Amino acid sequence: MKPRVYVTRQLPREGMDLLARDCEVDFNPHDRDMTREELLDSVKNADGLVTLLNDNIDAEIMDAGPRLKVIANYAVGFNNIDIKAATERGIAVANTPGVLTETTADLAWALLMAVARRIVESDKFMRSGKFRGWAPMLYLGNDVHNKTLGVLGFGRIGRAVARRASGFNMRVLYSGGKRASEEDERTYNAVFCSLETLLRESDFISLHVPLTESTRHLIGGEQFDMMKESAILINTARGPVVDEKALVWALKVRKIAGAGLDVYEQEPGFESELAEMDNVVMVPHIGSASVSTRTKMAMMVASGAIDVLEGRMPAHLVNPEVWENRRT
Ligand code: DGY
Repeated sequence: MKPRVYVTRQLPREGMDLLARDCEVDFNPHDRDMTREELLDSVKNADGLVTLLNDNIDAEIMDAGPRLKVIANYAVGFNNIDIKAATERGIAVANTPGVLTETTADLAWALLMAVARRIVESDKFMRSGKFRGWAPMLYLGNDVHNKTLGVLGFGRIGRAVARRASGFNMRVLYSGGKRASEEDERTYNAVFCSLETLLRESDFISLHVPLTESTRHLIGGEQFDMMKESAILINTARGPVVDEKALVWALKVRKIAGAGLDVYEQEPGFESELAEMDNVVMVPHIGSASVSTRTKMAMMVASGAIDVLEGRMPAHLVNPEVWENRRT
């Protein structure tokens, strides 16, 4: 008998087809997130659950699925899943790292450029029919080339963001986590420093740390105080890494010059004042949203679920302890 997998939101077809080849697949038929009640119900007969970062998968959900062997999250981040609870219950958690690195780095740069060169404001101006010809003071922004980029979190995505900076002849600082090897520092032309130095010296600060208890509100009032008044903050990581109220304050009192945001503290909500600020560019959590990357993520999340259900260790297992214990 094929294992049963529940998919909490339909994925690109390639992933759904892959799952359907090896599993009985049930899925949320709606184009919206599942409610708590629906999640509790859906997991009842499931051997595997394919989830999104919007699904809060805690111990109660896991206990509602006595057959559950795998939770495969359609994201590299997994802060929506109680990993400890999954591990205690012997449930493997798989995710989709790697395939979305370059796409997310592209978006961080798109935001950086958009804020620095006031692209969204200028676009609105053009559409409103106000352009009367070249003018010396029209939409003056900030240069990107020859400036300092601070990369906070030097994992895959942070490094991909750093690599792009060489085309702009930028100085790159990085912080967060442990120091990279000398070879990596050379490859990315990046200099390790303290968080404080990064905040004080960077013209652009791009966040790439995962959301954990120690990174929640890593950037708040005190950190904004340290930044240059010309600094631009880019967040494509997780919303709660930034204290969003403090960000609004910092932008309002011009402690910093601007922000480019893909993620928000209480998605889908956000501090409404952000939407009124011309020096903020906001997009709806689309870091990995290219057709090709989302397709690869769908294939990867499907393979992760199938691997566990067929007794193979998945390529990207968040809690390998589960596998070790299972073998002994
Ligand atoms: C992730 O993968 O964690 C992103 O935020 C969603 O693509």
